[in-house]
Amino acid sequence: MSATSATRSGPSTSALADRDTSSEILRSRPTESGVSPWFVNRWSPRAFTDEPVDPEELQAIFEAARWAPSSSNEQPWLFVYAQRPEDRARLLPGLHPYNQAWAVHAPVLIYLFARRHLRSQDQGPVVNAKASFDAGAAWMSIALQAELFGLSAHAMGGILPERVYELTGVPETEYEVMAAIVLGHRGDARRLPAAFAEREHPSPRRPLDEIVRESRTPPTADELVA
Ligand SMILES: Cc1cc2nc3c(=O)[nH]c(=O)nc-3n(C[C@H](O)[C@H](O)[C@H](O)COP(=O)(O)O)c2cc1C
Repeated sequence: MSATSATRSGPSTSALADRDTSSEILRSRPTESGVSPWFVNRWSPRAFTDEPVDPEELQAIFEAARWAPSSSNEQPWLFVYAQRPEDRARLLPGLHPYNQAWAVHAPVLIYLFARRHLRSQDQGPVVNAKASFDAGAAWMSIALQAELFGLSAHAMGGILPERVYELTGVPETEYEVMAAIVLGHRGDARRLPAAFAEREHPSPRRPLDEIVRESRTPPTADELVA
């Protein structure tokens, strides 16, 4: 059964619970709770194989983003992507040269834009202050759907915005380019320039108690000084 047919209607909770944390992940990413391995197995590699992404899977990945939540259901995201080699070559100069050096091999290159203004223009243009937050939700949906298909996604803030508007034809007045994303099948780190190859492994995280605080009434002494 292909990854596509297994996950087309979404994973069941038990299917996710049954997924193993890979041994590579276990070494660098010890967990502190019953979090699903789905979240922990996802990481951002730089090495990709030449294998194209199945067109149906690519559509499903964009559809995962389509169903992301957004403020007032504005759905401010816009994705411009390239997968044919000649199209990727044309869009690649929108990446910072640092990212071009490795992303050149990934089979799908995406630019993620967020619409600057709310769609209702009754009172004139109103800036959508939550557009970047919503675009972030859409990116995460892409990354997690990719993971379910056995693919990897890697987001990049290292882009050259002026070049991206020029290359994609997306008007800067209407959209802000938020990030680039590459997608594909994870490849061999030996394919990367040496400086990237040595960093090709899942990264750790700060401890849970450093990022989560329960707020209580009355406030604790820690909350009062925080
Ligand atoms: C908004 C954003 C911008 C990023 N920019 C870059 C980038 O320009 N180049 C790069 O190699 N990785 C970039 N990354 C990848 C992060 O470095 C990576 O997600 C982080 O180190 C956590 O690692 P993980 O995704 O493997 O769990 C970016 C990630 C995000 C979400």
